[in-house]
Amino acid sequence: MKQFSVAVVGATGMVGQRFILLLENHPWFHLTAVAASSRSAGKTYEEAVGARWAMPSPIPEAARGLIVLDAEKDAEKIAASVDFLFCAVDMKKEDIRALEERFAKMECPVISNNSAHRHTPDVPMIIPEINPEHAAVIDAQRARLGTKRGFIAVKSNCSLQSYVPALHPLMDFGVTRALACTYQAISGASKTFATFPDIVDNVIPFIGGEEEKSECEPLKIWGTLENGRIVDAKGPAITTQCLRVPVSDGHTAAVFVSFEHKPSQEEILERWKNFSGEAQRLGLPSAPKQFLHYFEEDNRPQPKLDRMLENGMAVSIGRLRQDTQYDYKFVCLSHNTLRGAAGGGVLMAELLAVKGYLG
Ligand SMILES: NC(=O)c1ccc[n+]([C@@H]2O[C@H](COP(=O)([O-])OP(=O)(O)OC[C@H]3O[C@@H](n4cnc5c(N)ncnc54)[C@H](OP(=O)(O)O)[C@@H]3O)[C@@H](O)[C@H]2O)c1
Repeated sequence: MKQFSVAVVGATGMVGQRFILLLENHPWFHLTAVAASSRSAGKTYEEAVGARWAMPSPIPEAARGLIVLDAEKDAEKIAASVDFLFCAVDMKKEDIRALEERFAKMECPVISNNSAHRHTPDVPMIIPEINPEHAAVIDAQRARLGTKRGFIAVKSNCSLQSYVPALHPLMDFGVTRALACTYQAISGASKTFATFPDIVDNVIPFIGGEEEKSECEPLKIWGTLENGRIVDAKGPAITTQCLRVPVSDGHTAAVFVSFEHKPSQEEILERWKNFSGEAQRLGLPSAPKQFLHYFEEDNRPQPKLDRMLENGMAVSIGRLRQDTQYDYKFVCLSHNTLRGAAGGGVLMAELLAVKGYLG
């Protein structure tokens, strides 16, 4: 495989830090530039992150001394120096939209964790095991942007990264409706227990914009490519409630689901066990061997025990049983800053590299 030099824009943040760790020993992608706001620009990466470093291992040697660039003022310099970039920034939506499009127009592909372009119809929102074929919409996007290489591809919201993969292998039983209550970790709010003491011994029943994203984004992921745009699927109808809970990493979802053709419990377990996608077929470096893991124990999955399954890239499922209102209910879990953010971004980039979009 060709070797790629990459930048992380938003490198000092919670997701950016994950990217820095994931790129430390990546076989294809090599970190050569980091960027953030003007507050961090000009400092070494180590100085700029300072006490905010929230990862379980130290800052990689190769990143420590890199001088942080200003994502907006140094955009030309960044675009000219790398093959593509990962973007995870906390800025106004319209500013992110403009910045990402600016990079793409400078022929620098953007793999984004931000929500700004998730509903742009010719921007693919890819989970490599589920909708890798959506990458083909990049041709139409390039035609609109007037680029040869540049494009934007996005990751979906972290809340849905457990229940969309769990529902996906069941879709041909005709999933009619699903209800998901999510119990979301504080790293999803860019926080640690040190920076978010109010969450200790507490639950916060509101996460701005999260329920809308959790209900709408699955329909784009399950959408179809028609005339250069992704057209959302018409169903299933999804309703959610998203709560912030005192967990450092890992979003749990309690899910209820009904079908047009109700499968047996054994059929559901069989589908989960046997499910694999393009990421596994291609043997992508960050792909989990077994994407969906089912736990027989009544008290699993648990964030503390199971979020790091397959390097935080697998989805854990448990407690499948019949329900009195819906056909079935179950619980599922995924790591929000790995599979749900940086890890999912790296996996998507690996898919796009193999398919020739980053060449
Ligand atoms: N946390 C998660 O689990 C998660 C999951 C999925 C998606 N996301 C999305 O990923 C993005 C980043 O989230 P996060 O949790 O990593 O946020 P964060 O910890 O607050 O980090 C934000 C990053 O954006 C940079 N930034 C802020 N203003 C900027 C500006 N004007 N120009 C350039 N860079 C600027 C910050 O740089 P400074 O250090 O210089 O301020 C920092 O690097 C958000 O869009 C979020 O919705 C997060």
